[in-house]
Amino acid sequence: MIGYRGSVFHMLDDPSIVGAEAAHAYYKDGLLLVEGGAIIEAGDFADLSKNISPSTKIVDHTGSMLIPGFIDTHIHFPQLDIIASYGEELLDWLEKYTFPEEANFADPAHAAECADFFIKELLRNGTTTALVYGTVHKQSVDALFASAFERNMRLIAGKALMDRNVPEAVRDTAESGDADSRELIEKWHGQGRLGYAVTPRFAPACSDDQMQRTAQILADHPGVLMHTHLSENTSEIDWVQSLYPSSKDYLDVYERFGLLTNRSVFAHCVHLEGAEFQRMAEADAAIAFCPTSNLFLGSGLFNLKEAEKYGVKTGMGTDVGAGTSFSILQTLNEAYKVCRLRGEQLSAYKSFYLATLGGATALNASDKIGNFEKGKEADFLVLDMASTPLLDRRLKKCKDLDEKLFVITMLGDDRMISHTYIAGALQHDRDASA
Ligand code: GUN
Ligand code: ZN
Repeated sequence: MIGYRGSVFHMLDDPSIVGAEAAHAYYKDGLLLVEGGAIIEAGDFADLSKNISPSTKIVDHTGSMLIPGFIDTHIHFPQLDIIASYGEELLDWLEKYTFPEEANFADPAHAAECADFFIKELLRNGTTTALVYGTVHKQSVDALFASAFERNMRLIAGKALMDRNVPEAVRDTAESGDADSRELIEKWHGQGRLGYAVTPRFAPACSDDQMQRTAQILADHPGVLMHTHLSENTSEIDWVQSLYPSSKDYLDVYERFGLLTNRSVFAHCVHLEGAEFQRMAEADAAIAFCPTSNLFLGSGLFNLKEAEKYGVKTGMGTDVGAGTSFSILQTLNEAYKVCRLRGEQLSAYKSFYLATLGGATALNASDKIGNFEKGKEADFLVLDMASTPLLDRRLKKCKDLDEKLFVITMLGDDRMISHTYIAGALQHDRDASA
């Protein structure tokens, strides 16, 4: 057993349901006990240190804050090299930058080099679990899983299914997409901490046959997730309406094919109507809120309060490369501003919930990750409270935890992540990195 000493903070529940006090735990001088890659206990150092054997090794992170690893519920690994591409809305951005770059992932060597950088970048930013899009090529997902497996990460990914309305170089067929997805599930799903998500790109890029087959794969594999895009951009929504003129709304298209389930994660959902939120809640489906992407592409302002009102599971997504940062802290910064532009508030506790336990719940993994409950997997971060002079100065003026957490979401970024532990093993040490 190893003990990690520092201030310890984690979320126990959704603060918009149970209130901020009941929703979190904080130990100013805390101890996190870890054994065999799992959490034994989180609590006050003074209490817990009395009951552990004197030979227990204590790693001293006094002055830093220990928190659960961040969960990114929507990101594209092959868009690493087109992050920060100028000047377009969604559909033109896909044509001009995204599809040409994704075509390069037919080359397994390119995929492997990008996968390795991508996984390291997640860890450098404190993201310990992510739900990830590959390209249409199965070798892109092989490369990503191989890299995550090496580091024992809990990572969920899938090859993109896209058999129409996209350039030939990034197009599959309903048959090949079905066969490749099943092959990847056999090979990777349940290996170590890896999981598979069937990944139809978005309704306009998938034929009816492909959508039906996706639903069949989902039904055939109970632990597999479904990951797609929904209602991101108004031109996209108009396009979907023209392809499916008899559909009630965009969600209805996925619903008709049996893709609205309690294992479905829909990225964006910027323009959902009340009835769509309601059906999402009834199905126990999840939303990935991607503020940096929605602002960058000018897609719109996600209605978090409406998702809360209907009780839809929600997590944070960076959506790199339309999203502009791998950092969940920077993503929370922009989430707050999206809420302000809607005239609403986003509390710091809610932000940390969305980034950890909320994300875990969205991925149906809250029994394994998301906080420091006994028995959960020990994915955790050490936050350097003085990673920049300004952060150090501002945090010292804070009067309580609430204010500190808010300042962290506004001023924090990758520089704050001094250590990232995956299942109890150190996988990123900021100061040891070149
Ligand atoms: N909709 C379909 N594909 C994509 C993508 O790659 N990024 C975003 N943001 N939206 C999409
Ligand atoms: Zn996306």
